[in-house]
Amino acid sequence: AGEGHVTDYAFSFEGPFGSYDTMQLQRGLQVYTEVCASCHGLSYVAFRNLSEPGGPELPEDQMRAYAEFYEVFDETLADGEGDFRTATPADRFPHSALANAPDLSLMAKARKGFEGPYGTGLSQLFNGMGGAEYIASLLNGYEEPPACAPEDFEGYYNVAFAAGGFPEECKDDHGHHTVPGSWIAMPPPISDGQVEYIDGSPTHVEALSHDVAAFLMWSAEPHLNARKQAGLTGIIFLTVLATLLYLTNKRIWAPVK
Ligand code: HEM
Repeated sequence: AGEGHVTDYAFSFEGPFGSYDTMQLQRGLQVYTEVCASCHGLSYVAFRNLSEPGGPELPEDQMRAYAEFYEVFDETLADGEGDFRTATPADRFPHSALANAPDLSLMAKARKGFEGPYGTGLSQLFNGMGGAEYIASLLNGYEEPPACAPEDFEGYYNVAFAAGGFPEECKDDHGHHTVPGSWIAMPPPISDGQVEYIDGSPTHVEALSHDVAAFLMWSAEPHLNARKQAGLTGIIFLTVLATLLYLTNKRIWAPVK
């Protein structure tokens, strides 16, 4: 198989002290809603999650209004026959509308952006798994197909996507890929200015892709902020405990030494 090009974009949630940028998650939710949701589902996320701390933190009334845009199929309605009704905060986002478009709830955890060197995984230790970087790179990775490819080769050439179709004509004598990436079934989903933000944030493809990648990182790991906070508290606690134990030990053994 070939390799995809993943760019190490900077995200606010990186590093031991990183946390989600609430406004960025709200923008990412908007991109998901206006663009990605026409094909991709987000079926592990409930509407009420949008108001929880550490996420997009939509005010309660906005979250309720957002849920009401959706219809869900309720099996208990119409004497057990089931019927559609307006969604409530307890319902989840729908499944993918397009059969071959994967659900995006956990995508940022299911894909990696970094590896190596030489299969050691050291890059992942220092840079993180890179799921959000991968998604952002994928959305920025569409390019003109290379000259080696037949014109009618199916799909869209994307330098970040490694798992798609690849023409024989672009392989060398040993079967190695001569160009990065592969051909993906997803058409380039976003273009410059496709989404209009009310906060005036930039809306070129790179900005939109960062926002939606951050939002999908949150959907895959909603408790990242709390986890990092607990880790920090733990380290501080252990440092204080270690200092006290050291001093206690000194005092207890002082008469003997
Ligand atoms: C695949 C993200 C919009 C159709 C994917 C993948 C991601 C993704 C992360 C998985 C790639 C992999 O397997 O490594 C997004 C985002 C979107 C978006 C963030 C919005 C900005 C769309 C739209 C469509 C679509 C609008 C339909 C027109 C597909 C299809 C695949 C796919 C068919 C499977 C591709 C394959 O396996 O060849 N998308 N997508 N996506 N997406 Fe999207």
